[in-house]
Order: sequence, then C-alpha cells, then structure tokens
Amino acid sequence: MWGCGYTMTTWVEEDSALEEILFDLHISVGVTLLFLLILRIAVRLAYAPPPLPDTIRRIERIGAHAGHVALYILPAVVIGFGWAEVDVGGHQVQWFGIPVAKVFPTVEVWEGLTETLHRWLAYTMLSVALVHVAAVIKHRWIDHHDILYRMI
Ligand code: HEM
Repeated sequence: MWGCGYTMTTWVEEDSALEEILFDLHISVGVTLLFLLILRIAVRLAYAPPPLPDTIRRIERIGAHAGHVALYILPAVVIGFGWAEVDVGGHQVQWFGIPVAKVFPTVEVWEGLTETLHRWLAYTMLSVALVHVAAVIKHRWIDHHDILYRMI
C-alpha cells in the first residue's frame, strides 16, 4: 500500500492509464484491508492474547501496549482519511469496479486536508510498523523472550 501509494502519486505520469490502474488497485486493496481490520478487531476482542512473559520490563510493557493500540488505530484512520479524500473530492470509492457507499459528502475544499492527513498518518503507521518488527527481533533473538508464540 505504501509502495503503490507513493508510486502512483510521484513516479507515474499524471492522468495516464497506469495511474488509474494503480489508484483503483490502491483503493480496492485498501477497502479489503478495512474488512480484514474489522475481522481482526473482532477476533482480538473475542480471544484475549496470552500475557507477556514476566521477564519483560514495565517500561517495555507500556511501550508494547501503546504500539499495539496504535497498530489498530492507525490503519483505521489512514483508511478513513483515504476514503474521505476520494468522497470529498467528488468521486466514489470502488472495490474492484463495484461502487461502494459514499460515506462523506463532496466538500472539495477539504480534499487537500484529507490528502495530507492520509499521507502523514500512512507514513506514521509505517514507522510504528517498523518499530514493531524491530521490537519483535530484539525480544526474540536478543532477549530470547518467547513472544512469537504469543503473536501466533
Ligand atoms: C492501510 C491502508 C493504506 C495505506 C497504508 C495507504 C498509503 C498511502 C500512501 C503512502 C499514499 C501516497 C501519499 C504520498 O506520498 O503522497 C497514498 C495515497 C493515496 N491513497 Fe492511500 N493508503 C491506504 C488506504 C487507502 C484507502 C482505503 C483509500 C481510499 C478509499 C486510499 C486513497 C488514496 C488516494 C486517493 C491517494 C492519492 C493521494 C494524492 O492524491 O496525493 N488509500 N496512500
């Protein structure tokens, strides 16, 4: 999603057929991810994960908890602002060619704001995701905490 989003807004020629294909793909996969996110949140609420190992320090527990909450909230708001950008700009979100509900009214003056928020929150989410992966590597291979079992 980051690669596609960046490519379609920077490298690809404006108003070209390739740009349209990438926009359609980005939006359709984004809508799919919204459904997967809702499913994931439902599963997370239905099944509590095992506790963190006792050996993890309090400060790391707080950091892990904040990071995990952010990994649910950020995709939701990134997708929300992406959807809003399309709607306020006077278009309608399509899922692989099928028009989906118009959630936000057309207010063209908000297009720039929703675009900026979508972009910056998307890159914030990328940073949090990278920190998450780095933390997994540290805990698993440096501290030898069995957190992969907990993730599975
Ligand atoms: C997890 C999901 C998503 C991620 C990580 C993501 C990420 C990105 C990124 C990195 C860009 C390029 C921003 C830039 O560098 O200028 C972008 C652009 C864009 N995204 Fe998403 N996106 C997601 C979901 C969505 C969804 C669901 C929609 C619409 C329903 C959407 C609509 C757009 C649009 C219209 C642009 C072009 C913005 C422009 O004109 O500059 N995105 N996205």
